[in-house]
Amino acid sequence: MSKIVSEETFITRRRDLHNNYYSLTFGPLRAAPACRPGNFIHVKLPTSDIYFRRAMSVASVDPKAGEMEIIFKVFGRGTTRLATFRKGDRLDILGPLGRGFSKPRKNERVVCVAGGIGFPPLFFLAADLVASGFDPKQIEFFYGGRGSLDIIERARIKKLGVTFHPITEDGSVGRKGLVTEYVQAMIEGHPGDKFRIYGCGPEGMLKATNQLGMELGVPGELALEAPMPCGIGVCLGCVVPLVKGGYARVCADGPVFAIGEVAL
Ligand SMILES: Cc1cc2nc3c(=O)[nH]c(=O)nc-3n(C[C@H](O)[C@H](O)[C@H](O)COP(=O)(O)OP(=O)(O)OC[C@H]3O[C@@H](n4cnc5c(N)ncnc54)[C@H](O)[C@@H]3O)c2cc1C
Ligand code: FES
Repeated sequence: MSKIVSEETFITRRRDLHNNYYSLTFGPLRAAPACRPGNFIHVKLPTSDIYFRRAMSVASVDPKAGEMEIIFKVFGRGTTRLATFRKGDRLDILGPLGRGFSKPRKNERVVCVAGGIGFPPLFFLAADLVASGFDPKQIEFFYGGRGSLDIIERARIKKLGVTFHPITEDGSVGRKGLVTEYVQAMIEGHPGDKFRIYGCGPEGMLKATNQLGMELGVPGELALEAPMPCGIGVCLGCVVPLVKGGYARVCADGPVFAIGEVAL
């Protein structure tokens, strides 16, 4: 885990991505250059009726400017409050936290499996790989949602040069169905190739991706979510059972775990 820093920072950019999705960029932050794909931050909300910090995956980093971006969907009280933040507002963050994604081997093709608001850490991963010289044509970016409004930042994904597979349950954008069906078909269609799966999204999608990886013998990693009171490995409020027995803390031992490691 990288060095954890609690910092006060300022919103430098706010974007309304429609359908209750928002992007907030903030900085300068000493923590930004140390941030890796899969890391998250814990955001304090400056209001007395919201006690716990909210965990947010890092969606992008600009190390030179010392800036970080998060992308979220308004869900409950925490994110409703977060969506009211404007450029210039002060933000208190703790991070970077957690264990991020490991890098693929040179001979592996990368399969990103994003579902809904599981998109940010996988976007960061794909962008980071491309920036570090990984061939974007070897990255298959699957992104599933209910309808077209849930597949956000399409232009930004395409700009990376990766092969983009939007999949919607109602067929309003891309192909119709569940994202994991198409991931399976793609992998089975290339029997000689070596793949590595990276997934983040709703519980059902993560379970299906975990199962798929194990059945096809494809290695990979999944970024999990859990309620996180402390975010730094102290309270045990975020534990998940492991297949080998015992428990792991999603905040400090994860949020990224190997396929087959957690009893999902
Ligand atoms: C590692 C990680 C990364 C995440 N990344 C993203 C992301 O990139 N984008 C995104 O939209 N969401 C992300 N989430 C989910 C996010 O943290 C919020 O839980 C989610 O957006 C719910 O929104 P809310 O706070 O508005 O809901 P609320 O309804 O306000 O909270 C949901 C419920 O959980 C409880 N709760 C909330 N926070 C905590 C806490 N820290 N500890 C214990 N209980 C708590 C509340 O009391 C409430 O009952 C991530 C979660 C984790 C664990
Ligand atoms: S949130 Fe406290 S140990 Fe993970």
